[in-house]
Amino acid sequence: MVDSPASHGASSATPEPGAVNSPDVDAPRVALSGGRTRPSLDDRGFLGHPSGLGTLFNAELWERFSYYGMRAILAYYLYTAVSEGGLGIDQPTALSIVATYGASVYLLSVVGAWLADRVIGAFRATLYGAVVIMLGHVFLALPIAAMSWVGIATVALGTGLQKASISAVVGQLYDREDGRRDAGFSIFYMSVNIGSFCAPFVVTFLKDRWGFHAGFSAAAVGMAFGLIGLFVFRKHLHGAGTNPTSPLTAAERGTVMRRVGLGVVGVAAVAAICFALSGTTANGVINTVTVMSVIAAVGMFAMMFKSPKVSAAERRHLQAYVPLWIGAALFWMIFEQAASKMAAFAAERTDLGSIFGIKVNAEFFQSVNPLFVVALAPVFAAMWLRRAGKFPSTGAKFAFGVLMAGLSFVLLAFYSNLWPHGPTAPMWALASVFVVQTIGELCLSPVGISATTKLAPAAFTTQAMALWYLTSAVGQSAAAQAIRLMEGLGDTTFFLTLGLITAGFSLVLMALVPWIGRHMRDVEAVKTA
Ligand code: PHE
Repeated sequence: MVDSPASHGASSATPEPGAVNSPDVDAPRVALSGGRTRPSLDDRGFLGHPSGLGTLFNAELWERFSYYGMRAILAYYLYTAVSEGGLGIDQPTALSIVATYGASVYLLSVVGAWLADRVIGAFRATLYGAVVIMLGHVFLALPIAAMSWVGIATVALGTGLQKASISAVVGQLYDREDGRRDAGFSIFYMSVNIGSFCAPFVVTFLKDRWGFHAGFSAAAVGMAFGLIGLFVFRKHLHGAGTNPTSPLTAAERGTVMRRVGLGVVGVAAVAAICFALSGTTANGVINTVTVMSVIAAVGMFAMMFKSPKVSAAERRHLQAYVPLWIGAALFWMIFEQAASKMAAFAAERTDLGSIFGIKVNAEFFQSVNPLFVVALAPVFAAMWLRRAGKFPSTGAKFAFGVLMAGLSFVLLAFYSNLWPHGPTAPMWALASVFVVQTIGELCLSPVGISATTKLAPAAFTTQAMALWYLTSAVGQSAAAQAIRLMEGLGDTTFFLTLGLITAGFSLVLMALVPWIGRHMRDVEAVKTA
């Protein structure tokens, strides 16, 4: 499969789940998957793609609008004084909570993907997810502090249900042999970035006039648009995503239920221990999410390495995947601090002036990444396509992406040191850090998803996607821990430490490029059409 850097990071190369898991996987033509009732090639209703893509484009646009809109002001809401409408939490704890929130979204998407695949089907997971997310934003829009926590947890739950599932439905819009699939994901990825580009402006406008809860209400209204669209235009999907791709059989049900029960008890035990050892509720939550993310990732790797369903060749692929996985976790550790440490840098350390006569708000920095993704994705897509099969290989692109993340924080440490007091750093400084990270994202995120599907043992295709999501959960948990542990050390030391660790690991990855290449030679196929 060709890497398609413009594709949606979460799913660019997600194989057609129905095709992968359905019993007729070897049939010459697995046309209709996940319950779709019409061949995809007959349908060119949305920009030359199946009309269902329009339905999902709209839903994803509004979901990401809500998610990133809320995230643009979440950190400020948590640490702003109560007298000014915030919750007045000390800043390191507030920023760790934001990182932990991001981690839980991706940790929960493992559960969402499982439910979609085995029980309710990807479309229903998407739809229910949308309802839950909207409720969460409504809770956040209520001017009651206690409801904010319920709202945050509800949004995380709904996003976990929806994020992986909606991409799976996109995959199911296309027949297996439909060559438009990668381009379809690229279009879908544009919806992510259009939504996340616009949100900070709308949310900030409302927040500045009527307070934080008014800002959050924009997310609720946005989510309502997405939900209504999903409902009204669902017929365009022609049934895609209706059926679970590998439904639980009656024979399995007992064992699975027992395992789910054990899992719930296990999570409760981990939470109880973490809360007992952590002192405060916030720390209890932060530590529980960290420990669960690590357990989930290690457990999944162990299960795949040990499984008798995994062949020797697949085990070799899996070995190559381990360093890539660690690199990705470090990448997200830095990248996702957009909403925590970097948001604080925007608000407190940056000299916010105006551009084209428009006063710049700290929140606007959240739009730099999506803007540059939209601008640069076609450039990277063309570049990778031209160079397919030549340097850089998957390992090299990964190493470069991780290096960019590391360097972005070294750069931020340099700026932090150069303008050490108050809001004195020029706006271009932080903006340039976002741009460097975006270049890294375009090297790593879509390539990573593609590598995941290539290196995954056949028996674990879906779980492998979940394993990929766990890079973000573990990375953001690491960020949450680092923010708290390095609380007293100052920004420069913080950015430099994380930047050097990450850049250092990218050098290890670079040294491993030939080894990784040897381990995945048989899957790094070259196909440009
Ligand atoms: N901006 C991307 C999105 O929200 C970031 C991302 C990439 C998230 C990959 C998850 C996985 O979709």
